[in-house]
Amino acid sequence: MQKLIIKGKRYLSGKIMISGSKNATLPILAACILSNNIKLQNIPLVKDIFTMIELLEFIGLKVKILKKQKTLEILNNGKKINTLAPYKLVKTMRAGVLVLGSLLTKYKKAKVSLPGGCAIGTRPVDLHLFALKKLGAKIRIKDGYIFAEAKKGLKGNKIKFPSISVGATENALLAAFGARGTTILSNCAIEPEILDLIYFLKKLGSNIKIKGRKIIINQNNKSKKNLKKIDHRVIFDRIEAGTYLVAGTLLSNKIIIKNVNPKVLKFEINILKKMGAKIKSSNDTIHISKYNKLKNVVISTKPFPGFPTDLQAQFMVLMTQANGISKIKENIFENRFMHVPELKRMGAKIEIKNKS
Ligand code: UD1
Repeated sequence: MQKLIIKGKRYLSGKIMISGSKNATLPILAACILSNNIKLQNIPLVKDIFTMIELLEFIGLKVKILKKQKTLEILNNGKKINTLAPYKLVKTMRAGVLVLGSLLTKYKKAKVSLPGGCAIGTRPVDLHLFALKKLGAKIRIKDGYIFAEAKKGLKGNKIKFPSISVGATENALLAAFGARGTTILSNCAIEPEILDLIYFLKKLGSNIKIKGRKIIINQNNKSKKNLKKIDHRVIFDRIEAGTYLVAGTLLSNKIIIKNVNPKVLKFEINILKKMGAKIKSSNDTIHISKYNKLKNVVISTKPFPGFPTDLQAQFMVLMTQANGISKIKENIFENRFMHVPELKRMGAKIEIKNKS
């Protein structure tokens, strides 16, 4: 087992380059099935990305990893395509289910393992399947696999998601890429990672418009220019950046966070400022230094542009060091407080009441 041994208490200082976003890279990798020749830059070299690459290779794509440049070169020559995502690859990485939309729309069929259980909740895929069925897919579940088919291809439709899901919005976008006519998705997730996927799909020739939580995908004959090589630089990881912002507020002489867009982190920065953090941001950089008297705050996790569930645990650590009682409500996942007993073992005073 890997161990992290931390000798506290030390102050942090220096400059940190934030990586590309894992959660943006994963759906973009699934979208590579839709194209022929892709170069992706600013790739975070983390385990989920390698698992997704393994999945693409299993399907029949060729992936060249240029580690030093954090770049991937991906070729889909359309030969020996396996429209299968096996259990061993999807069980460890839920985002594997995103190849469903791409495979179905391009190859008219897919067999994809149901993702395994997850420590932060049950995380079903009903919303993904709801959207694909609306686009004309025939779907059945057997032996832990999703069997999807659209013999005559998918067809655009109006789809209103009953609740907001990042993954379901992404799967629907990928499927709508090749669906005939117009698809109108409403009540969509509009996380920055989804906007990056849309930017990428536009480079592949898709005609996509966004109005609030509505996304309109117009498939016309012009949407076929995906034969030329596409180059894309993945957006920065806002969760990694947010984690360093928390670390900086707790323990920094001065940390400089680079390779970010501070506008994307507006909500988080405002909370930190409210708590008393000293933060200055410019174009692609944030300067942060420790403040001695942190104030308490009340936070609720929500879909973007609200406060992200993926930063809930980090902000809770910060709250243990603030004066007074802070409150945090988890609205996205039903079981995302596993860090609480661990923080309590280190002396934090935390009480859980329902979702708060
Ligand atoms: C993505 C992120 C994850 C983040 C989450 C919420 C990736 C790879 N992961 O996960 O880091 O925490 O968004 O911002 O991008 N749900 C259903 N049915 C479905 C799908 C989801 O009920 O078919 C529920 C989930 O159980 C959860 C909520 O909807 O309670 C939101 O989940 P969703 O937005 O889909 O999260 P992921 O895409 O899995």
